[in-house]
Amino acid sequence: MADPLILFCVLLLLSIPVSSQVSELFYPGFKHVGTNLTLEGIAEFENDLGILKLTNDTSRLLGHAFYTSPIRFKNSTNGKAFSFSTSFAFAIVPEYPKLGGHGFAFTIAPSKDLNSLPSQYLGLFNGSDIGNSSTHIFAIEFDTVQDFEFGDINDNHVGIDLNSLKSNASAEAAYYTDATTKQNFNLKSGKAIQAWIDYDSAQNVINVTISPRSSKPKTPLISFHVDLSPIFEEFMYVGFSASTGLLASSHYVLGWSFKIDGQSQPLHLASLPKIPIPRKDHTALKIGVSVAAIALTLSVISISIYLFIRKLKNAEPMESWELELGPHRYSYQELKKATKGFRGKELLGEGGFGQVFKGTLPISKTLVAVKRISNDSKQGLREFVAEIASIGRLRHRNLVQLLGWCRRRGDLMLVYDYMQNGSLDAYLFDEPKWVLSWEQRFGIIKGIASALHYLHEGFEQVVVHRDVKASNVLLDSEMNGRLGDFGLARLHEHGSNSNTTRVVGTLGYLAPELPRTGKASTGSDVYAFGALLLEVVCGRRPIEPNAKPGELVLVDWVWNRYKEGKVLEVVDPRLDGVYNEREVVMVVKLGLICSAHGPRARPNMRLVVRYLDGEVEIPEEVRPPSGSHVAGFDDFVSSFASSSSFDRMSCYSNKEMDASFASLSTSPLYLLHGQTR
Ligand SMILES: *[C@@H]1O[C@H](CO)[C@@H](O)[C@H](O)[C@H]1NC(C)=O
Ligand SMILES: *[C@@H]1O[C@H](CO)[C@@H](O)[C@H](O)[C@H]1NC(C)=O
Ligand SMILES: *[C@@H]1O[C@H](CO)[C@@H](O)[C@H](O)[C@H]1NC(C)=O
Ligand SMILES: *[C@@H]1O[C@H](CO)[C@@H](O)[C@H](O)[C@H]1NC(C)=O
Ligand SMILES: *[C@@H]1O[C@H](CO)[C@@H](O)[C@H](O)[C@H]1NC(C)=O
Ligand SMILES: *[C@@H]1O[C@H](CO)[C@@H](O)[C@H](O)[C@H]1NC(C)=O
Ligand SMILES: *[C@@H]1O[C@H](CO)[C@@H](O)[C@H](O)[C@H]1NC(C)=O
Repeated sequence: MADPLILFCVLLLLSIPVSSQVSELFYPGFKHVGTNLTLEGIAEFENDLGILKLTNDTSRLLGHAFYTSPIRFKNSTNGKAFSFSTSFAFAIVPEYPKLGGHGFAFTIAPSKDLNSLPSQYLGLFNGSDIGNSSTHIFAIEFDTVQDFEFGDINDNHVGIDLNSLKSNASAEAAYYTDATTKQNFNLKSGKAIQAWIDYDSAQNVINVTISPRSSKPKTPLISFHVDLSPIFEEFMYVGFSASTGLLASSHYVLGWSFKIDGQSQPLHLASLPKIPIPRKDHTALKIGVSVAAIALTLSVISISIYLFIRKLKNAEPMESWELELGPHRYSYQELKKATKGFRGKELLGEGGFGQVFKGTLPISKTLVAVKRISNDSKQGLREFVAEIASIGRLRHRNLVQLLGWCRRRGDLMLVYDYMQNGSLDAYLFDEPKWVLSWEQRFGIIKGIASALHYLHEGFEQVVVHRDVKASNVLLDSEMNGRLGDFGLARLHEHGSNSNTTRVVGTLGYLAPELPRTGKASTGSDVYAFGALLLEVVCGRRPIEPNAKPGELVLVDWVWNRYKEGKVLEVVDPRLDGVYNEREVVMVVKLGLICSAHGPRARPNMRLVVRYLDGEVEIPEEVRPPSGSHVAGFDDFVSSFASSSSFDRMSCYSNKEMDASFASLSTSPLYLLHGQTR
């Protein structure tokens, strides 16, 4: 009988390729090498040109090209990584001249099939595996988008990535003309650039050098001390990976040379294939010429006129400020087609900001959610669209990714990743689709806390969400919570009349100071997050018109039970008692702390995240939160209890109202009462 362990070892040995004696590669162009490089994603050879194209300039693509056989990167006797050197020529041609996306990377990986995503992950990682040392991924990134999630220094840098996209060393793209003079240059210029990567395993040093010329600068751009032995497995695949996101570039490799334990052969830019000149849109000109050429056939003209009028009806002229924007601008036609003409059947939901439709983008067949917002104010729209440019750069795995936008007359359309499992409220209230387990709920809460922390502190400017609530928490295919609609509330705050400031938010999630100050803050987001925590534990809305009198306002009810030491009585009965008691109590306490009356008494999101991660113990003492102990509340409730639009009602007020009510009460409910619609 064979010992299973021995059998396993034999199988393991058999599975290691023995034939791989390759230690040198040389591709001065890619005309006749189709069989030795494995392509994946949309990577392809442009055979007539002899270049390797990893991606074109369409959104959210990825492309890989790896040398087909694995290469021995380590001495099997002593486990020490070998020295290697490589040089390659590449070009990045962005869709818009100044906005590239997302970049590409020279990659050494244990497998050719990376289980990876496009956009900020550069086709190397899938989000959950970043920083995990079992990925064994070595990459030199040439990154043209600044991702705050990974601490990128700017949108034009080179970085050394070890098992992560948080570069262990990075530098702005530049080369040294002599030992001290540094010349910056643009990676996404569309011109050929040569890169050299040299690893010396005796010194444990890796050097990265780039230049727009063939001659190698003497001083490397980055020289980093590292022993790659723990990163490499004995056999590794070597090649390239590139991806596009909201912003897109074509990524080309023009030539490549690689050698283990020695100097790779030099490449000469002049003798490598040339990148195709970026196509310019000459369609208008061509149509003009051909119409003349057909010599004014009457029928052609009439068809043209018909088409032209139809186009005019649908097209919206670009305004200069719109041209400067980053995120992808979809054409109205494209979105109309995607949503089957904004058909009622495709309607996913309707919120305070407008209708949301499900759609399938015509070219990429990507499922998207298209949010259509009507706004009559040109000024407000302009400011808002400017804001989209920055929202489009927000990246976090617990935010619903904005893919692009479109404007048509007063309508603004925002295109988002489609979230398979809809919004959280559908799983919590009334008759849920199915019951979320406590584990799922806790995971969702943690995800949303991390997203809010990112909005508040992780971006170059503070982003206040302003409308945190269960219906803005969306669930992806793996039931991860993702926060949607960030930044949108700003649009409504701008209002149609510049003298008016509207307070946007949803009843029950509105911090008490909001209507008074009219200013949303990170503290008011924390308040709303507190309400969300309690909802998730209790499985009911912050204000439940049909509840028994003492249970009307969720915070009050939870507080009373907590005070009586019967906190577990508030837990959603649908959980059937299956939950982690310690976590539940912690989340309830945190919900109460976040619901404190004064913004200063509430923790910030950084602290909230640490509480949830168990890094910091939640305080023993919890002070009474801000509930309904405000005069006028009962009136308000009785006038609303019968209203069917109660639950999702957005509240708004203007400054004059604020002024007159501020002296009467600090309660938002007064304002609502005075301004019911
Ligand atoms: C491609 O592989 C073949 C054998 O499989 C080898 O003879 C040839 O030299 C390889 N070409 C390159 C450019 O590595
Ligand atoms: C880019 O590649 C995708 C996928 O192969 C293709 O559908 C699309 O038409 C290409 N775009 C351009 C501009 O060539
Ligand atoms: C591997 O390491 C052993 C022990 O240090 C050494 O004798 C041998 O020459 C090395 N092999 C290679 C291929 O470098
Ligand atoms: C990400 O990749 C790792 C390893 O390649 C894999 O174990 C994990 O399941 C992947 N996660 C997702 C979400 O695909
Ligand atoms: C790293 O990845 C491995 C395999 O994909 C997984 O088993 C392990 O839990 C991961 N470690 C961390 C810290 O995520
Ligand atoms: C590289 O950076 C990661 C964090 O991003 C760190 O865990 C790792 O130790 C670093 N490796 C080296 C060799 O500096
Ligand atoms: C890396 O660069 C340094 C100079 O910064 C040089 O002394 C060293 O020899 C270089 N190493 C390799 C492997 O190119």
